[in-house]
Amino acid sequence: MSEAAASATWVTLAYLVTGICFILGLKWLSSPGRARQGNQIAAVGMLLALLATLFSGAILTFWDILIGVVVGAVLGAVGARMVKMTAMPQMVAIFNGAGGGAAALVSMMDFLRGEQTGMGSSPDVSIAVALSTVIGSVSFAGSIIAFAKLQEIMSGRPVSFPGMRILSGLVLLFIIVMAVTVVAFNGGDAVLYAMVAGALALGFLMVLPIGGADMPVVISLLNSFTGLAAAFTGFVLGNNVLIISGALVGASGTLLTQLMSKAMNRSLLNVLFAGVGGGGGEGAVAAAEGGSVRSASVDDVATMLAYANQVIVVPGYGLAVAQAQHNARELADALEKRGVTVKYAIHPVAGRMPGHMNVLLAEANVPYTQLYEMEQINPEFPRTDVVLVIGANDVTNPAARTVRESPIYGMPILDVDRAKSIVVLKRSMKPGFAGVDNPLYYDPKTYMLFGDAKDSVVKLVGAVAKV
Ligand code: TAP
Repeated sequence: MSEAAASATWVTLAYLVTGICFILGLKWLSSPGRARQGNQIAAVGMLLALLATLFSGAILTFWDILIGVVVGAVLGAVGARMVKMTAMPQMVAIFNGAGGGAAALVSMMDFLRGEQTGMGSSPDVSIAVALSTVIGSVSFAGSIIAFAKLQEIMSGRPVSFPGMRILSGLVLLFIIVMAVTVVAFNGGDAVLYAMVAGALALGFLMVLPIGGADMPVVISLLNSFTGLAAAFTGFVLGNNVLIISGALVGASGTLLTQLMSKAMNRSLLNVLFAGVGGGGGEGAVAAAEGGSVRSASVDDVATMLAYANQVIVVPGYGLAVAQAQHNARELADALEKRGVTVKYAIHPVAGRMPGHMNVLLAEANVPYTQLYEMEQINPEFPRTDVVLVIGANDVTNPAARTVRESPIYGMPILDVDRAKSIVVLKRSMKPGFAGVDNPLYYDPKTYMLFGDAKDSVVKLVGAVAKV
């Protein structure tokens, strides 16, 4: 075997191992206990792919690639270390945009080099170039808007103007015409640039009319676009590891998008076109009067909790806003010391990003064994003495089961109302993200403890110690 052939075999093998590492990484990331190892094995896979590329005799020199690796690694490490947990969606948006943009640029460069050398590209490669350039550019532009909305550089409210959808349709048509020209007629630099300009405009037009609070779903969708763009770039370059990893990102992004839409009981089309959820939603409208509510004092609640057999804590967006996760854990510890069983009920879309509650509670070192998913915990509510709802609202709203007109009708909820008693910690009667009243608060078994969640939980810790 010649030296070049042997080296190509080693590179292919290294890429195969990388693919296996990525698949294992994804598998392990799906359970909180192994998520850290999942991340690590995926990072090892990435390192292997980088090393293989360095020694693969690719078109770029060893030093070109090394400079790219160092710059990217420094930016990634500094970004990840500095970003606050609550700003994670923005960071994912910007990294995702960079991925889409890179995929588009690499394909464009390959096409333009073919033009310069007069060799052009074969039709199958031109199709891959057109697809990765268009999809990558849409993802890049869309991610920039998503980042700007989440970072509050621009308003989180849906932005639209009359005729916006018609304009988007026309832009899409323009892109298709340009793409066909690129593929069928190997149509020159200018056509390629026009196609990219159209795709960037489409990315902006797609994300502008979507409300800030729906951005996590949009980012996940754009993430799947970036994966697809990278996979097509893999076809352009004939690079297997890019095809594998792009397909994995594309598939997992699509699954996550579906999962989030389903857990919110909304179709993806509704997320993309309904213009729901400007800038956080909660508090915009006061809830309609639905009867009288019963408020309780800190001491009353502390007594209820201290004498319970089982308490289920239901965390929601308000826990994240108040940053009360450490105090919630202290309260749980104090109750457990008294012999109370404490469990945490995690709704798939509690908070504002996938896994929001898991991340918060992990930060406070709550053991994974105490976290229960919705399907696991729902049968437990009827035999639970007290449910402590900390800053959650929509995910506990029983109207989702019965009120057909409600925007959350059909959304699976935590069956909190089936418990023996319920204590809700929130600041006011204002609604949550969906902007709807919650009949749970008027249930005779429910006690409201008004105030900032952190203040209330700190006071409860003190009061439980005195019971
Ligand atoms: P929400 O229904 O939004 O309710 C949060 C509640 O927290 C509010 O009613 C608010 O009431 C209270 N709150 C806010 N700040 C507080 C503070 N400092 N102290 C105490 N309470 C505070 O939250 P949820 O139950 O977690 O449901 C999530 C919602 O977001 C769902 O509708 C879901 O579809 C949507 N969503 C989720 C995601 C993901 S991926 N998780 C993505 C987009 C949208 P007060 O103002 O009265 O305090």
